[in-house]
Order: sequence, then structure tokens, then C-alpha cells
Amino acid sequence: MNSTSHDRLLIIDFGSQVTQLIARRLRELNVYCEIHPYQNVTDAFLQSFAPKAVIFSGGPASVIDDGSPRPPESVFALGVPILGICYGQQVMMEMLGGRVERGHGTAEFGRAFVTPSTTALPLLDGWFANEKEQVWMSHGDHVSAIAPGFDVFGTSPNAPYAITADISRNFYAVQFHPEVHHTPNGAKLYENFIRLAGFGGDWTMGAYREEAIRKIRETVGDAKVICGLSGGVDSSVAAVLIHEAIGDQLTCVFVNNGLLRKNEAEDVVKMFRDNYNMPLIYADEQELFLGELDGQSDPETKRKIIGRLFIDVFQKHAKEVGGAKFLAQGTLYPDVIESVSFSGGPSVTIKSHHNVGGLPAKMGLKLVEPLRELFKDEVRALGRELGLPAAFIARHPFPGPGLAIRCPGEITRAKLDILREADAVYIDQIRKHGLYDEIWQAFVAILPVRTVGVMGDGRTYDFACALRAVTSVDGMTADYYPFTHEFLGETATRIINEVAGINRVTYDITSKPPGTIEWE
Ligand code: XMP
Repeated sequence: MNSTSHDRLLIIDFGSQVTQLIARRLRELNVYCEIHPYQNVTDAFLQSFAPKAVIFSGGPASVIDDGSPRPPESVFALGVPILGICYGQQVMMEMLGGRVERGHGTAEFGRAFVTPSTTALPLLDGWFANEKEQVWMSHGDHVSAIAPGFDVFGTSPNAPYAITADISRNFYAVQFHPEVHHTPNGAKLYENFIRLAGFGGDWTMGAYREEAIRKIRETVGDAKVICGLSGGVDSSVAAVLIHEAIGDQLTCVFVNNGLLRKNEAEDVVKMFRDNYNMPLIYADEQELFLGELDGQSDPETKRKIIGRLFIDVFQKHAKEVGGAKFLAQGTLYPDVIESVSFSGGPSVTIKSHHNVGGLPAKMGLKLVEPLRELFKDEVRALGRELGLPAAFIARHPFPGPGLAIRCPGEITRAKLDILREADAVYIDQIRKHGLYDEIWQAFVAILPVRTVGVMGDGRTYDFACALRAVTSVDGMTADYYPFTHEFLGETATRIINEVAGINRVTYDITSKPPGTIEWE
């Protein structure tokens, strides 16, 4: 099970919306961690994972309810530091002999202030810059009696046990969420926690590169590998890394599925042929993909069709290169979490990312996914470590299912052509205004609705489109980009003037959550 030789921290997920942020905070501190839903964390799992420390996440359940989520009792006997957050704090208290009560009148949501006790706690070293510290609370129930061995180190008006600890066992429990932005000094708690747990900060991109290359060689041996190259950062970094590990045992396949952006196929193939000396097949499969998508409008059906066809195409080329045994993909950690862990865990399936949830059960090719443990910004750091061109690393993400998920409803060639043109004008505008690097991802979605307009003296009846631009750190949460009105007005005018088929432009100002970045 252990996929890394680094010190590991285990985050047991009880379904909080912000569990991913705990992982982010820890990765920023060069600590390797994994999130696992509580149902999967058994005694045997704990033994084989051998964490150096454990964090219990928050979650929506109440420990008072029958059958509420619990970690196995054996976690407390591992002899490693444990930090319980919000629900994680309550479950820890309950299991260790304290008491939790329903929060009649004592619920706290949002900003609160914690005051420290007079006794010092190493977890809080350097934390209380002021007499009280702002934290983010989100709880209904509250701890009404702490477990034997615990002492109180911080209180808030509605949480008398805001920070408690059993110092002798290295167990810490906080009612608030130190991982969120609204707990401004929260990162300090994690820094102290991992120091107390003895982590050496060994999770660096240099170390990762060496280890990934060794693992790829071990996994692949002398077999051939094909890599689905999309021209995005992830698959490109995966390809360069694997090429460094196994040289020309690797063949890249760039699939033109008819769902690419304007000039994308030409640009990507040229970039790779000019910069990298690796075997690259250009597969023109536009008819295949667009034919099968014809008449389909359900988002999950579209994703599954595209996922299946990609695999069919890769299998065909695997044979052609003399029997490749492995398929390499640029799958990232958030893809894995959003498609798999959420559905297996306490939360729900959001969507099947084509390179995870959409793969057929029987495929005849084994997967090599050397980026499966990384967040997007870590992939970019690895790309820099591998010497990929800076402009290439800075490219906005582009999803595997491509324009299909930016064309809600039925996909037609005519709509795709319109979408490609509108998207090109929009990105050109963003670049001209020097905004490209400030934005995590920007694109146009063509809406399945036509609207009436007037141009010159004539009536128009054309498609409406939505512009999307978001800021984000890792794609897990996102906010809309605050363009100026001038920018939006100028862009709308350009799109309507330059793109035949669109007569109305809207700007999507939904954050994630509650929206997702893509429209499907
Ligand atoms: P959502 O829409 O889920 O997107 O908020 C988060 C990020 O993931 C990208 N995305 C995908 N990438 N295959 C991919 O390789 C997919 O199926 C897929 N779906 C979404 C999306 O572009 C955004 O960056």
C-alpha cells in the first residue's frame, strides 16, 4: 500500500467540505499526507499505512447519533500524535471518555475569537500574537466535558473547550478550523503539530522526481508504455517524467477528438516535436468521437463515452507500437479525490473525471499515473524542476473531455465551431489585457439556447454564451475573477462582432462550491 518512502501523515475524512485544505496546508509544509474516508480506515489499514501522525477532519454528522462515523479504537494506541478538528475533536472526546452535547443555543458559525489559557502549549507556539486570536467556527454540537488526561488551553465565548490537549499522549483537539483562510494564523498550528510529530519536511519536488523515476522503472520494467498527451500541463509533465525514466520505451499519443480548442492540435504537436525528442503519434479521431456523441446530452453519459473512446484509441495504438502494456496518464490527486474518494467516502460523487471515474473496468492496459499524489501547483513545480518551458507550465488547465463539457446539452459540429472561435477571442482579450497569469482558468461555454437580438437593421436568432474565469489554488475551490466592466463590455462586443452564431454574452459569477468550474 505504501506508495512513498516519505514520512506519512494520515487524514481521516469525516466528510467536511474543507478536508482538502488540511492536505494543502500540510503539503505547503513539505509533509506527505493522504486523505482516506473513515470507512476505509480499518485496524489493518492503520498498520500498513503506518502514519507518523493522524488528523481527524471535521464533518457534518453528530457524534450523539447512533452509527455516527468513528475511527477505529486502535488509532489511539498507535502512539503517534493526533489532532482532532471540529467533528474530529468531538469524536475524539467521546471515544476517550468525555461528553458531547447538542448545541441548543450554543452553535457557532463563522468568525469567533479564542483566548489562551495561562499555561503554555507547544502546539500554540508563536500563535497568539494578540490576547485573542481569530478563528473560524462551524459547529452545532459542543464538547461539554473533556476526556480524562486533557486540559484546556483556549476558550471562545461559545466553546469553552476550543483548544484542549492531553500533552502526555500528544493528543490535540480544536473546535475551530485552522485550515481555512478565515483562521489567519491557522497554518502555525499545523507547523507546530508536525514539528511535535517529528516530520523532517522531506516532501520536496527534487526528492519526488527521483522517487517517481525509480518507481516508474520498477513498475514498467522493459515493457512499452503509451501516454495520452493532451497538451495540458499534467499529461505533458507526466510524459517528460516518464521519458526521463524509460526513454523511447514511451510513445506519446495525441488524440484529436474534435473537442479541442482552435489550433490546439497543431500547436501541441509542434511544441512537442520541436522541444522533445520522443516518439509521438498524432491520431485524428474526430469522426469517431463526434459520431458517438451525436444526440447525447446527459453530462455523465458524455463523459463515459469520451472516457471509453479514449481507451479504445489508446488500445489500438498500444498494439501498433508493438504491444504496449501500460497507459500513462496525468491524473492528479484532486481528480482521484473528486471521482473516487468522495463517492466511496462520506460525500457524494460530483462528476466522473474521464481519466479516473470514466475508465472501463476491463481495459487490457495497466495504468501508470506518476502524478496521482500531487496537487496542480505541485505538478507545476515538478514541471519547472524538469525544465519545461515556463509559458507551457503556465497554461490554464484544459479538461480531458475538452469542449464537450463546455457545450451543455447536445453537441453539434456547428456549435463546436462557434465555441472555438468565441473562446479564441476571449483568451486573446485576456492575454492582451495582461490577465492570463492572474487567472487559474478561463473559457467560454456555449449555451443550449438561442436568443433574439438586433444587429444593423436585422433580427438575429443566435446562441448565447457564458464567459468563465476563476481564481483558484488547486481547482478544488474557486472564485470568479473580478474583471472590470470595461473589459467585459469590450470582450462581449468583440465576440458578437467577430463570431458568427453568437448574439448574447453573459459572465458566470458562480464560485466553487456551489458551482463547479466546468459547466458539466
Ligand atoms: P470542476 O469542473 O470539477 O473542475 O470544478 C476542476 C478542474 O478539473 C478539470 N476537469 C477535468 N480534467 N478530466 C480532466 O483531465 C476531466 O474529466 C475533468 N473534468 C474537469 C477542470 O477543467 C478544472 O480545471
